[in-house]
Amino acid sequence: MWGIIATWRMALEGLSESASALAAGSAASTAVVDAVATVEDFPYYKSVGYGGLPTENGDVELDAAFMDGDTLAFGAVGNLIDIANPVRVAHALSRQRYNSLLVGQGAREWALEQGFSHKAMLTDRAMQHYRKRCRETLDKGLSPYDGHDTVGVIGLDKHGSMSVATSTSGLFMKKRGRIGDSPIMGSGFYCDSETGAATATGVGEDLMKGCVSYEIVRRMAGGMTPQQAADSVVFELEDKLMSRFGRVGDLSVVCMNRNGEFGAATNIKTFSFVVATAKQPLTVFRAERHQERTHYHPVDDEWMQAYAARIRAPIED
Ligand code: GLY
Repeated sequence: MWGIIATWRMALEGLSESASALAAGSAASTAVVDAVATVEDFPYYKSVGYGGLPTENGDVELDAAFMDGDTLAFGAVGNLIDIANPVRVAHALSRQRYNSLLVGQGAREWALEQGFSHKAMLTDRAMQHYRKRCRETLDKGLSPYDGHDTVGVIGLDKHGSMSVATSTSGLFMKKRGRIGDSPIMGSGFYCDSETGAATATGVGEDLMKGCVSYEIVRRMAGGMTPQQAADSVVFELEDKLMSRFGRVGDLSVVCMNRNGEFGAATNIKTFSFVVATAKQPLTVFRAERHQERTHYHPVDDEWMQAYAARIRAPIED
């Protein structure tokens, strides 16, 4: 068995390549890192890597992580500025005994020492979004916070090894130094090859309150199917935050167990995910909430075309 699953339609191209590699016998670790790096490199995805949206100061601060489900080793970076592929830095950090999570200037210095290249990650298009948001928020008093679509990829290879990787530019207009769930083990990602893996996307401040990825893996280890684990964690957290905190942001997850069975859960209207396994051809699904369960169905050509048009659409002033 092999399998790969990722948050959001944006992972499709990367997953297509990595699914073929897994089918041919590649390692899960390589498959997830390569798939995430493909998303990081594509300039039109405005919540990950090159082209990601900046902080309120206009800098692009990127977060990423990698976890090896065989050894439980992980590496993560936060607030990394102007290095091309944060996920590859995170992967390299996972091979270190100490200093697994580096942020800011320290993360950048370490990456440069290791031979990772400087790359200006702020694009003209991201600056257009930034200027537009500044006008909207300053002139109209709207909340500046938006845009938190993390790519998270889980892979299972033919040897039974699993890995997970994440990457994001985080909340659009975040404060300088803010970190969400994506580089935080247990919240944005968790992976144990003996059980399975999970990864999250949504409002990091709320996802971290439930340590959602660890909790999903723990419930799978206790006997739940991936779908049961995903649904129960997302909807229990939503209920808890509504009753005790008074509000809740977007919460979406995908997960896969060691047999290649997968699940997805969301509390928002339009959450897409991509999956391929030895039994399931590469498919983009659209997930929707129905009471305390998440239902999903393959997207159609019209949806795919609308998506392609939307991500490249001119930014209106
Ligand atoms: N889930 C990404 C973030 O909140 O930064």
